[in-house]
Amino acid sequence: MSTDRSALEPVPVAEIEPSRLMGDELGHFMLVYKFGLAEIGTKITILSEELTHRGRGNPIEHVSTRLKTVESLTAKARRIGCPLTLEAVRDRIRDIAGVRVVCSFVSDVYTVAEMLTRQQDVTLLQTKDYIAEPKANGYRSLHLIVEIPVFLSDRVVAVPVEVQLRTVAMDFWASLEHKIHYKYERDVPAALRDELAATAADAAHLDERMERLHAQIHGPRP
Ligand code: GTP
Ligand code: MG
Repeated sequence: MSTDRSALEPVPVAEIEPSRLMGDELGHFMLVYKFGLAEIGTKITILSEELTHRGRGNPIEHVSTRLKTVESLTAKARRIGCPLTLEAVRDRIRDIAGVRVVCSFVSDVYTVAEMLTRQQDVTLLQTKDYIAEPKANGYRSLHLIVEIPVFLSDRVVAVPVEVQLRTVAMDFWASLEHKIHYKYERDVPAALRDELAATAADAAHLDERMERLHAQIHGPRP
């Protein structure tokens, strides 16, 4: 995800303490997340291509992946009071690897989530359903933390990956909200906050209408 909020937090380089997070050990630590990301990314690509091949319409519009930068990781650790040790970071920060899946319709979001999490090697660790319960600012998306085994030369590591699923309309809203959030350094004026919440509701309404229209034309997706 190129728009991870914490990735954009400005952390002056001089402030990053030399710690056990730095150096070769960190390189190896991050590599494992890169592999986990590749595993989940491949699974989503397979679903997307297979569904396209079946010719019943592909529910996946686009997919993006991102690995947290060391700066963003350090900033998050500091923000949540996580000690800067690999063990603590491994345990407490589960969005080092992130995949964002943008779907056409709300029902597709749940279908894709189900198709991914029922796979034998995928373990669902956490679900945050901000579609069923949108955030106060209007943010909607389905967030999953899944775990995937990564086979290294001498061992198998279970790697957590954050998967964010949302519709095109939700994605449009989230990217604008993200920009506004940063422009105002989190102190968004009340009028703008209200307008953002209203546009989020409009986007949700659009999603409902598009879903109904789609069902009228094609019937519900099999
Ligand atoms: P983070 O520490 O930021 O990862 O938050 P969290 O651990 O409480 O998890 P949560 O599921 O709430 O949010 C994780 C990610 O979802 C964020 O890093 C963003 O990418 C996205 N996100 C969550 N809330 C918002 C929001 O209000 N606006 C936008 N644009 N993105 C959001
Ligand atoms: Mg995050």
